[in-house]
Amino acid sequence: MLRLSFFFGLICLVKTDTDETCPSFTKLSFHSAVVGTGLNVKLMLYTRKNLTCAQVINSTSFGNLNVTKKTTFIVHGFRPTGSPPVWMEDLVQSLLSVEDMNVIVVDWNRGATTVIYNHASSKTRKVAEVLKKFIDQVLIEGASLDNIYMIGVSLGAHISGFVGKMYNGQLGRITGLDPAGPLFNGRPPEDRLDPGDAQFVDVIHSDIDALGYKEPLGNIDFYPNGGLDQPGCPKTILGGLQYFKCDHQRSVYLYLSSLRENCAITAYPCDSYRDYRNGKCVNCGMPQKESCPLLGYYADNWKEYLKQKEPPMTKAFFDTAEEKPFCIYHYFVDIITWNKNIRRGSITIRLTDRAGNTTESKINHEPATFQKYHQVSLLARFNQDLDKVAAISLVFSTGSTIGPKYKLRILRMKLRSLAHPERPQLCRYDLVLMENTETVFQPILCPKLQM
Ligand SMILES: *[C@@H]1O[C@H](CO)[C@@H](O)[C@H](O)[C@H]1NC(C)=O
Ligand SMILES: *[C@@H]1O[C@H](CO)[C@@H](O)[C@H](O)[C@H]1NC(C)=O
Ligand SMILES: *[C@@H]1O[C@H](CO)[C@@H](O)[C@H](O)[C@H]1NC(C)=O
Ligand SMILES: *[C@@H]1O[C@H](CO)[C@@H](O)[C@H](O)[C@H]1NC(C)=O
Repeated sequence: MLRLSFFFGLICLVKTDTDETCPSFTKLSFHSAVVGTGLNVKLMLYTRKNLTCAQVINSTSFGNLNVTKKTTFIVHGFRPTGSPPVWMEDLVQSLLSVEDMNVIVVDWNRGATTVIYNHASSKTRKVAEVLKKFIDQVLIEGASLDNIYMIGVSLGAHISGFVGKMYNGQLGRITGLDPAGPLFNGRPPEDRLDPGDAQFVDVIHSDIDALGYKEPLGNIDFYPNGGLDQPGCPKTILGGLQYFKCDHQRSVYLYLSSLRENCAITAYPCDSYRDYRNGKCVNCGMPQKESCPLLGYYADNWKEYLKQKEPPMTKAFFDTAEEKPFCIYHYFVDIITWNKNIRRGSITIRLTDRAGNTTESKINHEPATFQKYHQVSLLARFNQDLDKVAAISLVFSTGSTIGPKYKLRILRMKLRSLAHPERPQLCRYDLVLMENTETVFQPILCPKLQM
């Protein structure tokens, strides 16, 4: 008898265990994408109470949702193949690792999955209405609009904007990750994400020439690598599916990087990418702030400053590395020359530290103009931040391989870190660079007074 009940208990235990499988994001096949899917919005809640197992919630059943905490919605975009977004789990886990909050994955895969983009796009307003109904209930339960944050990817960015409009911009924050461009480019503010849709709107544009939206849409708009082609992404169709989505998806990976990597991505407010590259936008124009805005989760630290501007919109530029953690390190290379005639060309600089690590920057986006006794300040971008530089190598090139070889006569070159202005500046005096020939030297500390 005793043994029997033990047996039953065991069976029950096993049974309940298998019944409680964790709900997962809707997986559809390519077949669904071809025949199309009707809209169905599923809300999946993740909290620190159970990091790996979601609860499906709705406007009558809130699961572990704690209304006194921040609630972050993640809204995906168009799904041309029906598969779940590959970055979703990382994003959920990373958000929960930095803050104790409610994370709600808005799974509208039934709706987003279709090979016809227009069909997915036409459902964005309906998704927004479903979210509005849900948020209304959460507010009744005691949540505050200030504490509501929406992260929208591609079409999801516009969905977030539509939700924000229904609350007259009182939502706490919206982050748009490469908001969708096709069918939205050129539309008036009511038909797309707009800076008025939340108390703070930040946007990353990573594919403005294809799937993304070109013009600014937020209080701050980040344009990595100018917003066009992202380094490390395939440049031709031979790259397969990655060719189509790599640039677009990069916005998500950059955002993710802000949540878990120890190198912060600094962005430089600037009118154009060209001006940024030419080193014209390095002081941030933010007198009361010590540093330039950071991309990603912590961008709202600059909210008050950015919203004071008229209109309250700022474009910010920066370059990235090809892969995680993406951040690069900015330095100025100040060069004074004494050639009699003006010289135009590009400089490649390579740094080597005491441990033998090297990092290189080609400053060749446009030729620099070297004029006798004038200082030229070139913005160099390195993948590694080498603190103890033991050797510097310089190559000067005019871009032509035929004809006479030119010399660049350098009176003084100086290397200074933008991120660490307190670091000693490195100098070298009296140097002649022969065109296309590498010159390696040991730098010395610049005299203190010479700023
Ligand atoms: C999370 O939920 C799953 C399924 O209900 C359960 O098996 C697991 O033990 C839970 N984890 C924690 C930390 O509560
Ligand atoms: C909400 O979720 C609960 C629990 O899963 C379920 O019983 C209920 O039918 C759902 N309500 C609606 C309106 O879908
Ligand atoms: C909800 O969050 C608040 C603030 O973080 C906390 O004090 C409270 O205990 C939480 N409630 C539950 C039921 O966990
Ligand atoms: C430099 O090289 C050493 C040894 O190879 C390595 O451990 C270290 O991480 C490198 N430093 C940087 C800044 O890359």
